[in-house]
Amino acid sequence: MDIEKQFEAAFSRITLDNGQPLVSVKPEIIHGCVVNNDFAKITLILPEDSPLRGSLPAQVEAEIKQIEQIERVAIEVLAAPPEKGESSKTAPPQTTPRQPQRTAYLQNYEAVIAAASGKGGVGKSTVSVNLALTLYQKGYKVSLFDADIYGPSLPIMTGRRGEKPAVIANRLIPLESFGINTMSIGNLVEENDAVIWRGPMVHQALEQLLRDTKWPGGDFMIIDFPPGTGDVQLSLSQLCEFSGAIIVSTPQDVALIDAIKAAQMFSKVEIDILGIIENMSFFTCPKCGEETPIFSRHGAEEASKKLEVPFLGAIPIELQVRKGGDEGKPLMASNLDSPATAAFKTIADNLVKVLEGA
Ligand SMILES: Nc1ncnc2c1ncn2[C@@H]1O[C@H](COP(=O)(O)OP(=O)(O)O)[C@@H](O)[C@H]1O
Ligand SMILES: [Mg+2]
Repeated sequence: MDIEKQFEAAFSRITLDNGQPLVSVKPEIIHGCVVNNDFAKITLILPEDSPLRGSLPAQVEAEIKQIEQIERVAIEVLAAPPEKGESSKTAPPQTTPRQPQRTAYLQNYEAVIAAASGKGGVGKSTVSVNLALTLYQKGYKVSLFDADIYGPSLPIMTGRRGEKPAVIANRLIPLESFGINTMSIGNLVEENDAVIWRGPMVHQALEQLLRDTKWPGGDFMIIDFPPGTGDVQLSLSQLCEFSGAIIVSTPQDVALIDAIKAAQMFSKVEIDILGIIENMSFFTCPKCGEETPIFSRHGAEEASKKLEVPFLGAIPIELQVRKGGDEGKPLMASNLDSPATAAFKTIADNLVKVLEGA
């Protein structure tokens, strides 16, 4: 039986002292119900002088605890329903209050963005890190979450390899790198420990990283997804509310076909595509400035037209981009004046425009 039905059944078992079923009392006493894993929060509306204030909360708690999935219950008793608007962010108006609403993680971010790609090695992590830094340099508060649990590369790229996050009051404190708050499974397990993640474990690991990390909140949360269209994509689409996804691709046909598949997968889980980025688009000769399209340029731009999504920009192949990643000092932390640096600035501006709906 799904969780909504279990809650409905639990509520309908509760009766008042006079035998009246709780759910038939008007005006409705059960105002809200929020479920997050094993935790449920129930909001009851009972006037200050209601005799039910004495026993009903404990009765509801006991009944809800009968639900197998639920370990912890919080009962909130209010004298009147909260004013509309006053708490609209935390408790959206509910049409069917007895049905639990699932809470999403990372609600303390203005924009939660998935950085995705169809295949590996196209530079998704490189783009995630450098885009995060560019946004930070533009004055935004940015966090970066490495959800590529199969091949976490952010610890190396952000210069935090081998470091373990501090734990305060049972919460992981993100590692700071060049002004960005980061967390990666790569900072929690030993590098040589082969971790084989399967479906349910993937969900659990991701949820733990989201729930047990003291994410500071801010303007942007950028999530570096593993390549492809698997378990992680599905889990994260259930765990957080995304502003949208950016798809990174190289201009070759093979990469583009996979990029289009990735874009289609996101639309299936109702995550908007904010735009496509073409990486390793061309090579600029550092001596003469001539641009060579190593992988045949503009492919991703054409794919964006086909998919009717914005094209955010093209990043050239640059030695310093690769070196910066390997050495843990990303290009955008180096204060260089280069074509790739300019590309990241353009992409960040375009992304902000897309988010502002301009
Ligand atoms: N624009 C670029 N110029 C030079 N090297 C790049 C560029 N983008 C990515 N790379 C390099 O390509 C490799 C793969 O990039 P990475 O970000 O790890 O890809 P993904 O996360 O998609 O697997 C890394 O060594 C990275 O430094
Ligand atoms: Mg990667």
